[in-house]
Amino acid sequence: MSKKLTRRKFLRNSAVTAVVAPTAAQLLTSCASAPNYAVNKLRHAAIGVGGMGGADLKQIAAHKDVVIVALCDVDANNLATAAELHPEARTYTDWRELLEAEHHRLDSVNVTTPDHMHAPISYKAIELGLHVYCQKPLTHTVLESRRLKEIAQRKHVVTQMGIQNHSAANYSVAKQLFDQDHIKDIHEVHVWTDRPAGWWPQGVERPEGEDPIPAHLDWDKWIGVAPMRPYKEGNYHAFSWRGRLDFGTGAQGDMGCHLMDPATWFLQLGHPLTIKSTGPAPTADTFPLESHVEYHFPATSKTSAAGVKVVWHDGKNKPTALLEKYGFGDKPYENGSLFIGSNGAYMFSPYELPKTTFNDKLADILLPEPHATNHWHQWVDACFGRVAASAPFDYSAHLTEVALLGNIALRFPNETLNWQGKRMRFEGNDAATAMLSKEYREGWRFSGLI
Ligand SMILES: NC(=O)c1ccc[n+]([C@@H]2O[C@H](COP(=O)([O-])OP(=O)(O)OC[C@H]3O[C@@H](n4cnc5c(N)ncnc54)[C@H](O)[C@@H]3O)[C@@H](O)[C@H]2O)c1
Repeated sequence: MSKKLTRRKFLRNSAVTAVVAPTAAQLLTSCASAPNYAVNKLRHAAIGVGGMGGADLKQIAAHKDVVIVALCDVDANNLATAAELHPEARTYTDWRELLEAEHHRLDSVNVTTPDHMHAPISYKAIELGLHVYCQKPLTHTVLESRRLKEIAQRKHVVTQMGIQNHSAANYSVAKQLFDQDHIKDIHEVHVWTDRPAGWWPQGVERPEGEDPIPAHLDWDKWIGVAPMRPYKEGNYHAFSWRGRLDFGTGAQGDMGCHLMDPATWFLQLGHPLTIKSTGPAPTADTFPLESHVEYHFPATSKTSAAGVKVVWHDGKNKPTALLEKYGFGDKPYENGSLFIGSNGAYMFSPYELPKTTFNDKLADILLPEPHATNHWHQWVDACFGRVAASAPFDYSAHLTEVALLGNIALRFPNETLNWQGKRMRFEGNDAATAMLSKEYREGWRFSGLI
């Protein structure tokens, strides 16, 4: 049994055994290099501490049973800001060095970098036996999602994807409404977002020229597994990478993991059978400014016997006519979903409790009790074996895959892609199948992952 496994078991045992005084052997095996840390703390490292990384670090560090051991960021300014808040933590600009040097005295990491680095960092951390909280979308490719799910199961680590709304009260209420069959036989779902909304470059080509790399940024490490390209201010770091094919996942990757979650979870969707995009194709470098992607999923106990059509809309293209038809025309959310069943329709918002979101037929349903959990703290508690994480990779790899399949469909406008989920291939479309994975840059290839 490895030292890591011993410690993980100890953490779980300490959760159920009120107060457990660590034995000398436990202290030696678990905390040899960090003798000042109480052993019943989760020793955590944050990788990517700017932007959402700041929020993830703040939330995780606020749990009473967490101690922040190490911080990593390729931007020295962001690293310095985080280090001011956690002066006791060791700092790194290379996550590979952090894992190498710290993994013996670590229990967990969070990965809050741009999307293209989620899988390599999470994979290596899990390989070392660490629990992982990774931002959405879980990965950049479908193959990476499958590999992360597989290694997380094999290493028995506790995982969570950063879809914090999944643990919010409105989701718990809506889940019960579906579980109790108040809304039945769903045959159609529309999901929409107001992104990309001009917040980052999308629908454009790669910028020409080159700008000086800021002294505080390690551009080579920011690029990581992606093909090297010249630095260009305002196009990549920070935040603006989202729309670029090499680094981000466009509006559907960015918001799909939040907004496709209700349909995927409430209706217990499996692999889609077909996927078709009827919007514009991406440019050579970025996702398009708007998209419409239609999926057909096989029947579940929550759908009609013929299965369910799920349509993703982004770029401010709400399904206005349908929202009006079902009585939601006067108050459509900017981001949401519309479920259409045999007994009525229901509009779901990730941000509001369902009080005014039923049409007439469902309006008199007595709402279940809301139940909210802090998504980050729930994951920490799951690392101690106190509760289960609500969005483990077992689930979130599938949710991410659904969104990423939509991104592949964008490359084949108006073509129906036949997805063979179990075999992980598109029937009769080798070009689409090739997009399920990607090459990593020379020097950044990790065995087992690609
Ligand atoms: N759950 C949510 O609501 C939510 C909200 C925003 C962002 N996100 C997700 O969080 C992730 C980060 O998004 P963001 O908007 O904060 O991006 P960002 O570009 O603003 O910040 C990324 C941070 O990671 C650092 N970084 C980049 N490459 C790194 C590497 N290889 N190693 C270590 N640090 C690295 C950057 O320097 C920066 O500090 C994305 O996956 C995004 O989808 C989630």
